[in-house]
Amino acid sequence: MPTASALHFVGEATWAALSGKPVHTDVWSDITEVPHVRIGREADLVVVAPATADLLARAATGQADDLLTNVLLTARCPVVMAPAMHTEMYEHPATQANIATLSERGVHVVPPASGRLTGRDSGPGRLPEPEELFEVCRRELARGSGTPSAAAPRGPLAGRRVVVTAGGTREPLDPVRFLGNRSSGKQGYALARTAAERGAEVVLVSAAGLEAPAGVRVVPVETALEMEAAVRAELADADVVVMAAAVADFRPATYTEHKIKKTHAVGADGAPDESVPAVPLVRNPDILAGLVAARAGASSPVVVGFAAETGDASGSVLEHGRAKLARKSCDVLVVNEVGADVTFGKDENTVHVLRRGTDAVLDVGPASKDVVAGAVWDVVTDLL
Ligand code: CTP
Repeated sequence: MPTASALHFVGEATWAALSGKPVHTDVWSDITEVPHVRIGREADLVVVAPATADLLARAATGQADDLLTNVLLTARCPVVMAPAMHTEMYEHPATQANIATLSERGVHVVPPASGRLTGRDSGPGRLPEPEELFEVCRRELARGSGTPSAAAPRGPLAGRRVVVTAGGTREPLDPVRFLGNRSSGKQGYALARTAAERGAEVVLVSAAGLEAPAGVRVVPVETALEMEAAVRAELADADVVVMAAAVADFRPATYTEHKIKKTHAVGADGAPDESVPAVPLVRNPDILAGLVAARAGASSPVVVGFAAETGDASGSVLEHGRAKLARKSCDVLVVNEVGADVTFGKDENTVHVLRRGTDAVLDVGPASKDVVAGAVWDVVTDLL
């Protein structure tokens, strides 16, 4: 909800067109809905970015002279404010006192970045990058408001324990080489993060070295065998297991303790042996199949599989996905199209979500991996 000052910079029509949402600007519109009370009460998080010196002053003194300050008084959820202004205004004792007051009351005040400001000047007072603010908001949502009533996890997955796997396993050949794949782990991390935000207790068995999402316990693994052992160890009391990892189907049959040399032996005649070594492979366990086979009764976890498909002459991505669901018999199968330039390492994904026992397909995307994660959890929550 833009303040009157914000509307000098960006007009109401632009906010509405870009967000696709109605824009609330004042206390006196839609009066039957009492928006100044309803919006604050219903909010999960209030973010004021940028927070001007004026807004900080009004919030610190509890004024209620526009819709935003009314909402700040009625909200009981976490509040994030990102002060942005010229350096002198930010450093003024009045502004600093207001920030201290708001912080003491539990508002998360994000320190401004330093850099070019609106004029030619530069210094502290710049609005942090959107990605940084977004991360702060995620953490606040995962943490709850900190008040006793909100300390217990909230959300549709509250009280649920979920295990998510992520990343591509690495199957070592020798101390420096491995067989691997192109999976980045981003989709698995998005699933873990979203589950935590929705209130679940989350364990992430990860073969990807990404930064741990807030509120998620990460168990690092490297190989398929390690991943299988970790998943088994975390299985007790799990309500959901999501196999988002790209698990190698095969591993080198032997591990060579020392680096395999290009010229790996010297023949009987003293000539170096230039022959190319073969790498025999053995099959890895299918972790997902093991979970499905171990399913016993209503207390078994919901098992979600992923299908990395490219489509070929024998069938489309979706056809391969349906066949895989029939073969794997997991509860939910998320089918995604993969290839060197599609999905792997990207922030966007296009998937088809299939459910055992129905022909219905939920198509999601192209959308961010967070949006895909949200759609998958919607389906799983339904099953739970
Ligand atoms: N999976 C697993 N253990 C393996 C291989 C795969 O648990 N050894 C899981 C993956 O985490 C994913 C699902 O099985 O949830 C499907 O993986 P995918 O590689 O698409 O299927 P495969 O069974 O390996 O079939 P193919 O490679 O022949 O398409």
